[in-house]
Amino acid sequence: MTSYINYKFSSKGEKMEKNQIPKHVGIIMDGNGRWAKQQGKPRIFGHKEGAERVIDIVRASKNIGIKYLTLYAFSTENWKRSVDEVKGLMLLFEQFLKGQKKLMLKENVSLRIVGRKDGVSDRLLKIIDEIEKDTYLENPALELNIAFNYGGRPEIIDGINKLLQEGKKSVCEEEFKNYLYNTYIPDPELIIRTSGEFRTSNFLLWQSAYSEYYITETLWPDFKEEQLILAIDSYVTRERRFGGAK
Ligand code: FPP
Repeated sequence: MTSYINYKFSSKGEKMEKNQIPKHVGIIMDGNGRWAKQQGKPRIFGHKEGAERVIDIVRASKNIGIKYLTLYAFSTENWKRSVDEVKGLMLLFEQFLKGQKKLMLKENVSLRIVGRKDGVSDRLLKIIDEIEKDTYLENPALELNIAFNYGGRPEIIDGINKLLQEGKKSVCEEEFKNYLYNTYIPDPELIIRTSGEFRTSNFLLWQSAYSEYYITETLWPDFKEEQLILAIDSYVTRERRFGGAK
């Protein structure tokens, strides 16, 4: 199997001249419900398995040399799901944050949560605050951003409201970046969506203007390091022109 490793270490491979390993990868983790259904289990079973994959993919991303990983865990629209599923996801998220702190520290991973606070319990907000402080590193091996209660449109609207409150009448693109949730990280070069759906679902709308998309049929609970490598392989061979001509 060809893999990113060939490109990473070859000094003059043709593919190396195109794209390097992306610095920032975003993932729309989709398909937990269908995966659970295939096993004849409730949806939350799929989410639990999905949380295990988060750990695997964080490790794999770090090994590959990705510097920023943004995972879409809960959208501003996901509140529309059944009360039981929402409760289950909140609890799973809380358990994940509490349970994986040690691993983050051991692996040199900084954790940031991006999204709105409204609707999130005070208890969870406190846990988020603590883990962000505890895993803060000046120079982490990987910065893991979890998009939670996140929507791309809400992020843009929040930014506009903030700049209006500051009395600004107009801003340029570069300046507007400073009003988004995560102001300092580069735009994602690659966005992966699992489970074969061709939608952005309100994920990183501003930041994805020139992202390369990779859609795989694999459901998120089956998405492992090997699948991540396939996505990177696809990315490194693409030609990015950013609107320019060949
Ligand atoms: C989409 O699949 C998945 C979600 C809305 C939740 C994502 C959550 C996880 C991967 C686990 C928890 C995450 C962390 C960070 C601990 P879906 O439920 O829409 O699947 P379906 O389209 O097959 O129904």
